[in-house]
Amino acid sequence: MINCPTEIAIEVKNVSYNFNKIKAVDGLSLDIPAGISFGLLGPNGAGKTTLIRLIVGLLKPKSGNISLLGHSISRKTSHLIGYMPQLHSLYLELSVMDNLNFFASIYGLNNSKKRNQRVEEVIKLVDLWERRKDPVQNLSGGMRQRVSLACAIVHNPPLLLLDEPTVGLDPELRVTFWKYFASLNEQGTTIIISSHTMDDAAHCNQLAFIRQGKVIAQGIPLEIKQATGKTDSTLEDAFLYFIHREDKIDG
Ligand SMILES: Nc1ncnc2c1ncn2[C@@H]1O[C@H](COP(=O)(O)OP(=O)(O)O)[C@@H](O)[C@H]1O
Ligand SMILES: [Mg+2]
Repeated sequence: MINCPTEIAIEVKNVSYNFNKIKAVDGLSLDIPAGISFGLLGPNGAGKTTLIRLIVGLLKPKSGNISLLGHSISRKTSHLIGYMPQLHSLYLELSVMDNLNFFASIYGLNNSKKRNQRVEEVIKLVDLWERRKDPVQNLSGGMRQRVSLACAIVHNPPLLLLDEPTVGLDPELRVTFWKYFASLNEQGTTIIISSHTMDDAAHCNQLAFIRQGKVIAQGIPLEIKQATGKTDSTLEDAFLYFIHREDKIDG
């Protein structure tokens, strides 16, 4: 069970980012409390990946500010973040272990004994110890997801940004991932997960519905469902409710 967290892990203030004429993120503000799983929900093209890349520091806001655990984004904040991109950035010809060693090194785990220990720990955690010597290209899609997750967490970051981590996972593996995310939350890690499935949304402690680069609703899943005014609303119903409400406001 999550205690009411008061500390804000990530603060996004009035941030905009455009690719030429496309407003991918449009004056968006979000306060993400520490130690929870926070879901960014929205259809394809809503701006989720762009928002995550802004938080990670791969893109610079055209306007607005982002702070991570009270710090402005800089090279110094990069160690605070573990990032699992939507498209994997794994080295396909390298083994599982070599990929992990590579990511551990770039995140500054320079002590080889500690690094080896941690690499072993995360490979076991994602249940790939038997396959550790296989090149990533020989693994199934779900296994690659697990390697990608392991690479994102190898340096024990307090902030974890996972861009559609559950896509392509079978139901059993999905459950494993969510159990693991909950255990990371218990250790204080803040997790931001993007998804377009309401199945994932139900696992999150808090949600923001994103549409056309804006937050159209935010809250705990129960509050969001109740906002529709109907007792039996699902999260899908709530999403449609907020879309219609926005469309009415926009005229
Ligand atoms: N590198 C890019 N160049 C041009 N347009 C982009 C680029 N990345 C994203 N976009 C556009 O920005 C909008 C938001 O995309 P994205 O953040 O990827 O959404 P999501 O992750 O929610 O599917 C879309 O209209 C998309 O086409
Ligand atoms: Mg995306």
